[in-house]
This record gives sequence, C-alpha cells and structure tokens, in this order.
Amino acid sequence: MRTVEIFDTTLRDGEQSPGVNLSTSEKVEIALQLEKLGVNSIEAGFAASSPGDFQSVRAVAKEVKQATVVSLSRSVEKDIDAAWEALKEAESPCVHVFLATSPIHRKHKLRMSKEEVLENLDQAIRYAKRFFPKVEFSAEDAGRTEIDYLCQVAERAIKAGADVLNFPDTVGYLTPEEYADIFIQLRRRVPGIEKVHLSAHCHNDLGMAVANTLAAIQAGVDQVEGTINGIGERAGNAAIEEVAMALKTRESYYQAATTLNHREIARTSRLVSKLTGMFVPGNKAIVGANAFAHESGIHQDGILKHQSTYEIIRPETVGFEKSRLVLGKHSGRHAFRDHLSALGYRLTDEQVNQLFARFKEMADRKKEITDQDLIALVEEKWGEP
Ligand code: KIV
Ligand code: ZN
Repeated sequence: MRTVEIFDTTLRDGEQSPGVNLSTSEKVEIALQLEKLGVNSIEAGFAASSPGDFQSVRAVAKEVKQATVVSLSRSVEKDIDAAWEALKEAESPCVHVFLATSPIHRKHKLRMSKEEVLENLDQAIRYAKRFFPKVEFSAEDAGRTEIDYLCQVAERAIKAGADVLNFPDTVGYLTPEEYADIFIQLRRRVPGIEKVHLSAHCHNDLGMAVANTLAAIQAGVDQVEGTINGIGERAGNAAIEEVAMALKTRESYYQAATTLNHREIARTSRLVSKLTGMFVPGNKAIVGANAFAHESGIHQDGILKHQSTYEIIRPETVGFEKSRLVLGKHSGRHAFRDHLSALGYRLTDEQVNQLFARFKEMADRKKEITDQDLIALVEEKWGEP
C-alpha cells in the first residue's frame, strides 16, 4: 500500500470561488483544522496578489507546524520574493510557481513562443530555489498541452531544480483515461522524472475532477491537489473528502492511502462551508446532509436489519454521528416503529398499525415528518401521557 500526499488548496483555488473572501483569522482557523485533518500541504494563498493575501499566507505560515505551507506565485521574481517574505518563518515552506504551457494560453494569454515559455520557467524555478527548500512547478492548462511539448517542459523544470511537478487539468476538459495517460507518457519519456514528485490537479467543469484524480493515482502520481467540499473556480476542484474516501473504501482496488484522519472530514466540511458561505448540497457525496439519510421503506428496512445493505461507508468513519432514517411518504412500518420507540413510545403491533395509516396520510401532505409530528399523531389518538 503506497501513500499519496494530499495538497489542500481550499484557501487558494477554493477561495477563487466567486463570492468567497476569507479574512486572515478565518484562513488560520481553516488551516489549523486542515492540519487536524492531516493534509500534507496547505496552499494558504497567493502572497503577491494582495496585501490581505500576503498577510494571510504569513499568518498561516506562523501557526501551522506539521503541514508544508505553500504560496502560489507567477513565474516572476517579484511574486517569488513576496512568497518568500510571507513564508520564511514556516516550518516547511514551499512556493508553487506556475506558467501556462498550452497552445491556447501561449497564443492568446501569454503571447509567448514555446522556447520563451521554457526559458521563463527555467529562470523562475532557479530563482525560487535560491530561497525555498521545496519548489513546485505547475504547467497551467497541461491538460490541453501537446504531450511532446509537455515532456520538454517537465525535463526543463527538473533540470532547473523543481521538486514537484504538477500537471493541472485547469479547465476540467479531460477524461480519466486521457489524464492518466499524461503521467504514463511523462514517466516513460522524461529523463530524470523519477527524481521529482508528480502531482495531479483537476477541475470539475465536466463533473470528472474526482474521477480524473483517481485515474492519476492509478497512473502512479505521488500527490493530489483539491479542496474541501470541492469548492473552487467555476465548477470547482476535486473534492478531497471524496478522493480520500474512495481510496479508503476501495483500498484493495487502488492500493493507495492518504494520511488523513477521516473522522475530521465532517467537521472540516462544516467549517469551510460556514466560513466561505458556500452551502453544501444535500446530495453531495460524503458530506451532504443526505449522504447517510434513508427515506424509502425498503432501504430503511434494509438498514435496520444490517447497515451494509445500503451504506458503503459508516457515517462515524467521517465524523457524522449516525445514519438518519428520514420519515416521509416512502417510509415503511419498520422505520416508523423504530422512530416511535426512540421517542419513548412502547406500542403494540395493533397500535402501530392504527397510527401508521394516519402517518401515511400526513406524509402525503408533508415532505418530511418530524419528531413533533409523531408526538402529535400519538397524542391525537390517545391523548397526552
Ligand atoms: O488549475 C490550475 O491550473 C491552477 C494553477 C494555478 C496551478 O490552479
Ligand atoms: Zn486550479
């Protein structure tokens, strides 16, 4: 079983979600929770982007003791200087230098030739290595970069001294097979590639960020990048909790694990949601309010007989208290009786039957039946105890 490192970018790519703006103290609070969760690297922000972000990166660098603290940086000296200024007190600092490599970005955004891009990234990495013990280089829009050129980019970045090479699917364009193939090709074709760590970074524009990240793990990457709750630019980034739980739940399939303390997942998700103001949809995998809730009678009956019938993860594993049996129009007698006894009512089969008919009528009118509704049903029939 090998270990895949988790690089969390909730505070950088996650904060790039439209409408999200975290204060320094909020970033520190999230960073400390991420440390409890056990992520290996925390990208705290983009130090050169604003005085506020500089301050946040510095504050996170001072507080975090276990994880590597990272700042994003364009491939320019002034950004690398700002990153070093913000990170120099970190126990384990890292700068994340990026430069776009795809033809679309080279032509329309950078207006640079292939050779100019190679020269620029070479100089930036060499400059960063003067200060930083660890330098990650990202070939932005690697997913739409010609594979031959991407191999040249990787070779040049390795020669310049990069420690980690990241190949983002910046616009969430690739399929899992295509994304995995990038890493397979790089390993086959780039001299010296075994000296560096390879990293995957996926966006969710086609809803495939987690699938692509898992495919990269199967192709042997050492590190994966993502955010809590999958927040991030546009449709977001790969959700770390989903990647981690896929590895844990299908351990023998992936033969890879993370160092995460899975029981901290629910708490981390709630904190990120509260401080970013980004609501987690009920049906979101792993951390949605309905991820461990069962409504239909057949499912509830199964769960009451044995949890494994309809749950592949125990809710406690990720820090939730227990599964919820939601009473609604699809619920059955078994769950109905179970709820009543949890409320302290000891009823005979006959009494349960009498009440069940009234319950079904009520459930046709209301989406969810609460404990108060059940108490009202009992009292309407037999009066207050
Ligand atoms: O998606 C991306 O390409 C990025 C880079 C800046 C690493 O977030
Ligand atoms: Zn990104």
